[in-house]
Amino acid sequence: MRVIFILLVGLCLVTGCVSQDQIRPIGTQKTLIIAHRGASAIAPEHTIIAYEIAQQAGVDYIEIDLQMTKDGVLVAMHDEKVDRTTDGTGFVKEYTLRELKQLNAGNWFNEAYPDLANKEFEYEEVPTLEDIFLHFGDDVNYYIELKSPPIYEGMEEKLLALLKRYDLIREGNDLPKVIVESFNEDSLTNFHALEPALPLIQLFSFKEKAALSVSDYERLKTYASGIGVNIKLVDREFIHEAQLNDLQVHLFTIKTELDMKNAFNLDANGIFVDSPALSELKEGS
Ligand code: G3P
Ligand code: CA
Repeated sequence: MRVIFILLVGLCLVTGCVSQDQIRPIGTQKTLIIAHRGASAIAPEHTIIAYEIAQQAGVDYIEIDLQMTKDGVLVAMHDEKVDRTTDGTGFVKEYTLRELKQLNAGNWFNEAYPDLANKEFEYEEVPTLEDIFLHFGDDVNYYIELKSPPIYEGMEEKLLALLKRYDLIREGNDLPKVIVESFNEDSLTNFHALEPALPLIQLFSFKEKAALSVSDYERLKTYASGIGVNIKLVDREFIHEAQLNDLQVHLFTIKTELDMKNAFNLDANGIFVDSPALSELKEGS
């Protein structure tokens, strides 16, 4: 009996042993640096090259927003429409993957930011999530946002199938290989029911001073490992309250040195940065 108990404990230590009603903690004391849409301040967002630059800077996670094509393929893009970040027009959901792959995803950046323009950006296309997994494999950690879930039926199941296919539902270097985030609570609770072992972040974009009620916390604690919040409207008290409720707090979006210093002073657990170079600034500096 004792041997079986020891074996079970050992198995739990290896697998994490998360049951349906448990929440996977993001077990680290470090402040996570999350490359927001890749190194999006200095390269065209959501392209392989933007993610390569972020990886080279040594960030903890690359952040990927997901949309879905007409033929059901998850692709890396922030907007529901392709207009801002490609040379095409219209909704992602109206493009097949083959059509989407004809679009250029780098030239817009060179035109919008001539001082940062780079010949290499001219060849970037819209990557699928699978392209990104194939390119980076185990070498990065992934922070993935389910964007616009109500317009993409089955999005959560497709994401889960890809994560399983690439064996990404696990720990790596003391951090979860994948964190999933969304502004959409239904999508996250659905995801948690499908796969309780994956840490989830509920996003909030507060319009006034950040605050959550006791019932909000009770609900969040049933599926989320943390919250992602816009930095401008949070204070230390709010962050500490969330942390006392066993929720990590990740702040978006850090664009300047001042934002970075504020984020460290606020005791956040993670920060989304547009420029990975900002992560070189250390606490208290
Ligand atoms: O995911 C955190 C932050 O990225 C949410 O804002 O609009 O950049 O996806 P957005
Ligand atoms: Ca995002």
